[in-house]
Amino acid sequence: MQIGIIGLGYVGLPLAVAFAEAGCEVVGLDVDAERVAALNEGRSYIEDVPGAALAPLGERLRATGDYAELASCDAVVLCVPTPLSDSREPDLTYLVESATALAQVLRSGQLVVLESTTYPGTTRDRLLPILETSGFTAGSDFHLAFSPERIDPGRTDFTVKTTPKLVGGVTASSTERARQLYAEICDTVVVLSSPEAAELSKLLENIFRSVNIALVNELAQLCDRLEIDVWEVIEAAATKPFGFMRFDPGPGMGGHCLPVDPFYLAFKARQHDFYPEFIELAGKVNQAQPSFCVERIERALNGVRKPVNGSRVLVLGVSYKGGVGDVRESPALKIIGRLQDLGAEVSYHDSFVPELPGHGLSSVGLEDGLRGCDLAAIVTAHPDVDYEHVVGVAPLTIDFRGVTRGIEVENLVRL
Ligand SMILES: NC(=O)c1ccc[n+]([C@@H]2O[C@H](COP(=O)([O-])OP(=O)(O)OC[C@H]3O[C@@H](n4cnc5c(N)ncnc54)[C@H](O)[C@@H]3O)[C@@H](O)[C@H]2O)c1
Repeated sequence: MQIGIIGLGYVGLPLAVAFAEAGCEVVGLDVDAERVAALNEGRSYIEDVPGAALAPLGERLRATGDYAELASCDAVVLCVPTPLSDSREPDLTYLVESATALAQVLRSGQLVVLESTTYPGTTRDRLLPILETSGFTAGSDFHLAFSPERIDPGRTDFTVKTTPKLVGGVTASSTERARQLYAEICDTVVVLSSPEAAELSKLLENIFRSVNIALVNELAQLCDRLEIDVWEVIEAAATKPFGFMRFDPGPGMGGHCLPVDPFYLAFKARQHDFYPEFIELAGKVNQAQPSFCVERIERALNGVRKPVNGSRVLVLGVSYKGGVGDVRESPALKIIGRLQDLGAEVSYHDSFVPELPGHGLSSVGLEDGLRGCDLAAIVTAHPDVDYEHVVGVAPLTIDFRGVTRGIEVENLVRL
């Protein structure tokens, strides 16, 4: 089987590798010429795909920038970004551009699958008409389905193979073709009645996380007022073996998915005169969390008679989660920006993120950073940092991730 993957990022590249490892011939397409060149030289740029995984694939995985090369594929999977516009509305530009280019080379009998996270109706109402400009009809001449990506970057216990895959096609035959495709690489394929159900299932999964993170973030703010240790409370509640699922508070919510997806659903809901207040409230609480963290930094510095203005603050971890270098929507960026506005001298250490050009910063060495700061703020906890050592060396540490639990010293403050 020959598979085309459009968009070779966090989602597309691991998927391309999974198909190639299963013996398929994979053509990866990206508009980023550097990514195309890197892959053709056997170099990976995604943490979850080690370079060593590419070498054994040989000719089974090649990259291109030319859509014409997709014409020979049996199936083409779209994994392009679906971000928000400046006005926080769904931005389907990448999807429209890639689908328009694909329509020029679409061939009878091909299966097209959309994996990008989006609102219900995108596959049928937006993608299908663009593909039909090819002159072919969806469901008969070519097949079309939605199958959400469930990848969790940095995670090793669940993989593309072991995570059940949802599929929903625009017709029964499209669904069946999509089921057969993913059966090549996934242990379990779950069939849904429509692309809309599959699109909404993905949003539910992410919004479920967003709402629960908002709940514990709000609890952390309340615990601050009540002078109760929020981590102790959560750990205690998590001993209940049923009816409770643990979520941890933090500096806010980041990444391409959780801060974005609620807006996709809200957009669709508004078109139907429905206002999902509960979901929007969760987004609001999570968006406000970085400001709360800055206030905690101000208070911690105040406790040692230092103003934020002029204080040297070392931010530890700037990606949106531990173990990855993705800074999209990372709360660390908001925290750094606000501290800079307040006059703090901000530096950061993150071995996964060498540069933050938007803030004029480069990652500093951990030891130098710790010795030269007034306060170290643990914003994202990476596995390569010894946090006991951080607390031992920095004059004052504030921990927004709960990784210093168990350490009780005067110069340590926790969320
Ligand atoms: N990153 C995640 O953890 C994750 C998890 C589940 C779902 N998703 C969803 O998957 C989709 C892709 O996300 P990602 O994190 O892989 O994004 P990414 O930015 O890492 O990768 C997208 C790739 O698409 C390429 N691209 C953009 N326009 C293109 C075009 N017209 N033609 C060809 N290539 C094009 C970009 O150059 C980039 O390499 C999004 O909808 C996202 O919400 C992401």
